[in-house]
Amino acid sequence: MTTKSTHAVELRAVTRRYGAGERAVTALDAIDATFAAGTFTAVMGPSGSGKSTLLHCAAGLDRVTAGDVLIDGTPVAGLGERALTRLRRDRVGFVFQAFNLVPALTAAQNVALPMRLAGRRPAAGEVTAALAEVGLSGRAGHRPAELSGGQQQRVAIARALVTRPAVLFADEPTGALDATSGAEVLRLLRDAVDRHGRTVVMVTHDPYAAAHADRVLFLADGRVVDALSGPADAEHIAVRTARLEAARATGAAGDATSSGGRATGDAGRSTSDNDSAVTR
Ligand SMILES: Nc1ncnc2c1ncn2[C@@H]1O[C@H](COP(=O)(O)OP(=O)(O)O)[C@@H](O)[C@H]1O
Ligand SMILES: [Mg+2]
Repeated sequence: MTTKSTHAVELRAVTRRYGAGERAVTALDAIDATFAAGTFTAVMGPSGSGKSTLLHCAAGLDRVTAGDVLIDGTPVAGLGERALTRLRRDRVGFVFQAFNLVPALTAAQNVALPMRLAGRRPAAGEVTAALAEVGLSGRAGHRPAELSGGQQQRVAIARALVTRPAVLFADEPTGALDATSGAEVLRLLRDAVDRHGRTVVMVTHDPYAAAHADRVLFLADGRVVDALSGPADAEHIAVRTARLEAARATGAAGDATSSGGRATGDAGRSTSDNDSAVTR
């Protein structure tokens, strides 16, 4: 059953545990978070804090242990494999650090791939428009090896956006790029939200990348421990990150929120000190 909501994605008490018994790891610990349509969220946190797991669960690429994820209003838990595959294919875009393009296919063929896999022929101009949106109109016939890293990532973004998904997830999309190419990709993601009304959720460890987002969620030990509503500047995000890392080193990550409670990750407000939250 589908309940419409203004959220592109919603996590309700999502827990993801790997393994069993003494060796079990709780990668996500009862996370509540909402991602409003037409917003850009950055997810930060130390290595192993659960960022990739959060993205994979929110994208329906990984099943949750408890709780539920709603993608474009559709609860994922009740879906069978075929319905989930279809939801993922039609409503979710995913961009990886390593681009993951098909080497034998041209840029245009890579962009057309999601539609081919769905058994349909791309409409005239659909692929051209997607490549134009990422500024690569002149590279349609190039194979990945003939493109720079930044260009390859832009093809990957075009491929992820061509189906007009409810949300685009990106796991360290600038992690393999030099500063200039990374900045281009970030500008592209920002434009996708501002000019085309897309919804973006991006994992990054780079405060400069996170500064492009409307909001930053900070994870530690599988929980949302802090949130900044933006736009926040990179220095500010870096200070917040350092504070959380210090709190973690002393075993007090859960106390990093000055409000005393756990940050819930709701859009449009900061659960942190007001001195640092700038509201639009
Ligand atoms: N497939 C897996 N099997 C077992 N443990 C995993 C698996 N994937 C992730 N983990 C564990 O879950 C925790 C969160 O991992 P991850 O989401 O990859 O963190 P991050 O992306 O923030 O570095 C880590 O402790 C990691 O070791
Ligand atoms: Mg990761």
